[in-house]
Amino acid sequence: MDAAPTPPATLVIFGATGDLTRRLLVPAIINLTRSGLVGDDLDILGVGIEPGDDAMLVSRLDNFLAGLGDPDAPERDEAWRSLRERVSYISGDFNKDDIFHEIERRLLRAPSGNAAFYLAVPPQFFGLIIEKLADHGLMRESDGAFRRIAIEKPFGTDLASAQALNACILGKVHESQVYRLDHFLGKETVQNILTARFANMMIEALWNNNYIDHVQITAAETVDVGSRGKFYDATGALRDMIPNHLFQLLAMIAMEPPNGFGAEAIRTEKSKVLSALRIYTAEEAANHSVRGVYTAGTLDGSSITAFRQTKDVAPDSKTETFVALKLYADTWRWAGVPFYLRTGKAMTARDTEIVVTFRQVPFAQFRETEVKRHLPPNKLVIQVQPDEGLSMEISIKSPGLSVDTVPVSLDFRYADKFDIGKMTGYESLLYDLFIGDQTLFQRADGIEAGWAAVQPFLDVWAREGDDPDSYAPGTMGPASADLLIERDGRLWHELGVLLHKAK
Ligand code: BG6
Repeated sequence: MDAAPTPPATLVIFGATGDLTRRLLVPAIINLTRSGLVGDDLDILGVGIEPGDDAMLVSRLDNFLAGLGDPDAPERDEAWRSLRERVSYISGDFNKDDIFHEIERRLLRAPSGNAAFYLAVPPQFFGLIIEKLADHGLMRESDGAFRRIAIEKPFGTDLASAQALNACILGKVHESQVYRLDHFLGKETVQNILTARFANMMIEALWNNNYIDHVQITAAETVDVGSRGKFYDATGALRDMIPNHLFQLLAMIAMEPPNGFGAEAIRTEKSKVLSALRIYTAEEAANHSVRGVYTAGTLDGSSITAFRQTKDVAPDSKTETFVALKLYADTWRWAGVPFYLRTGKAMTARDTEIVVTFRQVPFAQFRETEVKRHLPPNKLVIQVQPDEGLSMEISIKSPGLSVDTVPVSLDFRYADKFDIGKMTGYESLLYDLFIGDQTLFQRADGIEAGWAAVQPFLDVWAREGDDPDSYAPGTMGPASADLLIERDGRLWHELGVLLHKAK
């Protein structure tokens, strides 16, 4: 990285004793410190409901980091030794004003007026905290200092609540101060989609409905719902993954080239394509979606409790743990090209991938030869995680005297070329928050466009009240998900991870 160091600032983390802070935010700041991008002019001020003082937060973080046991602990410890001196904590109730007076006092003492407020708290506190920050004058950007807010997902639970939250936030602060996170945008492979498309003529020149047959986006997870029953039963796979993470991937794949690489140019193109997603009627929504729920079973040798038997999940829950959708982006470029999306828990493998399948060659040049079957179509497979990389599936002549073809894969793996293993995915997001680059954050219109496209599914499922189809742990979802794509004469791509293991 030859990026410039971040300006002096205070990172105020609401929810400082929570999981996100210790697992991702603090390790990411440590990595930024190690690479010299964050200096000793960054203070961390934790805020939380748990009683305690600066020493309590520091010792919790000490214990967590000590338990990580990663191989480069000495370098990490050195960065943490200097950072931990600048960590402090305020305990109190987010509903009360005292906390905000105290934050004000601490910021007045800070070496710089720059502050980023990170809301690592449950979503019911988002509006409240932002209102309080604004009402206490803490969002005022005076004397050239910045005041920014970073908001974790979920951003709303449907279109109306997302619109209401945006209205509440934008009634108090300017859009340029709001950094709505989607942690998928911090992933190197996701950021690489734009480079792969717009830096390579041989990819972008074919990127339209003349040459592309369909696109598949899969985010499969092996984890079950575990201890997240309360959150997940109220949320479900669609809300948890589709209008945010999977739509970010879809937007990167489907957007038009931006006029420049500035935040507004890119976000405008992403919002445009998300708002072109076809808004289905109730009947279309029912026909273009499949919901699944995992039963009891085993996965990788461990036993899995059925979702409906999970702690804090209603035994008669109708919440889905898997969803598959067929969508269209109604633009000139993508007319008639279906986008198949699927995501779920307790599936065969952890694998997030995008597969762009090209059309068949128009003419069977080889018909007098051994090549009797259909040539398999070319595919571009973007492996988002794990085993990050990109491959192209093409046909070549199989060696020998007769003319026959064989499909092969031209393969690039990040790990073969670069050292990306130690990153949490939050480094670029935090860095951009400090330097004021909103490219990797969602704008209000993009979020609302995403919710608008999924709202018909939420409505039809609520109205029909059917049970989701069952699937066994360790499978790729219910059989109905296969039918969704097979009735169009297509197949789901076999997960990239499995193919790599098989090599
Ligand atoms: C979160 C969802 O936003 O993303 C989780 O709430 C999901 O349910 C997670 O497991 C997936 O993220 P990643 O980076 O592990 O693929």
